[in-house]
Amino acid sequence: MARLFLREEISLGKAPSRTDYQVGILPTLCRQLIYTSGLMKTLTRRQFTRTVAGTAAAALASSTLPKLAVAQMSNASLLRFPADFQWGCATASYQIEGAANEDGRKPSVWDTFSHTPGKTFQGDTGDVADDSYHLYKEDVQLLKGLGAKVYRFSISWSRIFPDGAGQPNEKGLSHYQHVLDELLANDIQPYITLFHWDLPDALPGGWESRDTPKVFADYAGHVSKRLSDRVGHFFTTNEFVCFTDLGYKTGQFAPGKKLPPAQVNQIRHHGILAHGLAVQAIRANAKSGTQVGLAENASVYVPVIESHEHIEAARRATREENAPFLTAVMEGKYTDGYLQREGPNAPKVEAGDMKAIGSPLDFLGVNVYTPNYVRADASPAGYMIERRPTSYPHMASPWINIGPEVLYWAVRNPSDLWKPKEMYITENGCSSDDAISADGHIEDTDRVMYLRNHLTHLHRVASEGYPVKGYFLWSLLDNFEWADGYSKRFGIHYVDFKTQKRTPKLSAEWYREVIQRNAVV
Ligand code: FCB
Repeated sequence: MARLFLREEISLGKAPSRTDYQVGILPTLCRQLIYTSGLMKTLTRRQFTRTVAGTAAAALASSTLPKLAVAQMSNASLLRFPADFQWGCATASYQIEGAANEDGRKPSVWDTFSHTPGKTFQGDTGDVADDSYHLYKEDVQLLKGLGAKVYRFSISWSRIFPDGAGQPNEKGLSHYQHVLDELLANDIQPYITLFHWDLPDALPGGWESRDTPKVFADYAGHVSKRLSDRVGHFFTTNEFVCFTDLGYKTGQFAPGKKLPPAQVNQIRHHGILAHGLAVQAIRANAKSGTQVGLAENASVYVPVIESHEHIEAARRATREENAPFLTAVMEGKYTDGYLQREGPNAPKVEAGDMKAIGSPLDFLGVNVYTPNYVRADASPAGYMIERRPTSYPHMASPWINIGPEVLYWAVRNPSDLWKPKEMYITENGCSSDDAISADGHIEDTDRVMYLRNHLTHLHRVASEGYPVKGYFLWSLLDNFEWADGYSKRFGIHYVDFKTQKRTPKLSAEWYREVIQRNAVV
């Protein structure tokens, strides 16, 4: 899987060093105006922006451009979304909550992993994170300030069942009831992820055990029974590859093991089985009408050129390269290609497993960050995945290679292949080397660039009639970015981790405008 391959390449703490340089490419017009008006002196960035804007506006006013043209452009050329399109943000329990030992919560594998020396950036842990466990009301106000109508967040399994199974912990559940009530009181619909990697550490064998999918289903049934009075949408799992391969093959994520292929394939199987059994448990326990899906970071294949043969190659690659995970879930079987490739290492499947895994879904959620380019070729598979040139641009996280058309193909490929009833973009966003200025501003123009360009492609896929219903920006606020600790900021709100002060970045202002106008701005 391409993303896995990239995360494997980047060994912990040895991310390619980035030369931090600013390239100030100004429109030639503005540059000339500054020179000719004798303004070349040291200006702060804000002063500079104001100066450029002012000078350019003056130039425009005195030019021959018809005055109406500017006003007309701002409305007629807007890329508008369908009226019922849902805009929101996403987070996950271990990344934001903190309160690691409160109200009966016991450790997850991520608590243990992050407290093991050498596993995370500078030994960072989620002990406090954004302290959202206590500050959730403030965070709901951040959402409200954006005008968001939906919020995706996850439940910490070991708050509900501190030992993974057995007696539920009422205090854990009641915390989430309070969070839900606060969201609903502010007219924000909750979308809950049941598992975003924080597996209770007490479960013997973790995902190596075939019992873990069963206890996950019990937990999913319990939570959906208790919370479906307030929650209409549940995601079972988040990103199979990250809690299976990264946790048990490469060891970069919790629990940090490096096991051989046959065991890894079995763990992958337990991951998708957990999803399938949880779908059944939710259907059996939740209020009728509750919608069930999952949030998956399927590798996205973008045709090198939009011609029939390369589009077909992208579709084939989508199906085959995601065979252990999304393809198995959508088709209820492993592809012949996957079983042949794995041979004796293929997973051991018991009667009934594939039926559960293929349980019909109400919607498919995709987490989308980066593209893989693919071309048609004469090999038996019919496609070839392109190598990325070393000059390919990326965001602050080296694995986030920029290719905004990925959002279009992330919806189109699975839709063409499997015709899901509805789709959501359950995560999209990027890290940026955010700096807070002396007067408290964070001008994350690179994040706005990344997001704006991705949304143009989301607009394209929505206007072509693909069933994409909503978009959850990752993330509402800076948080604990797993093995990267606090070194990578993904939020549209800046968090000072010493004081817990939240400050909207430029990207938050921009996103508010997107939501208000229901259009790319
Ligand atoms: C995704 C994870 C999410 C966050 C983003 C940046 O893979 O689901 O928790 O780490 O990446």
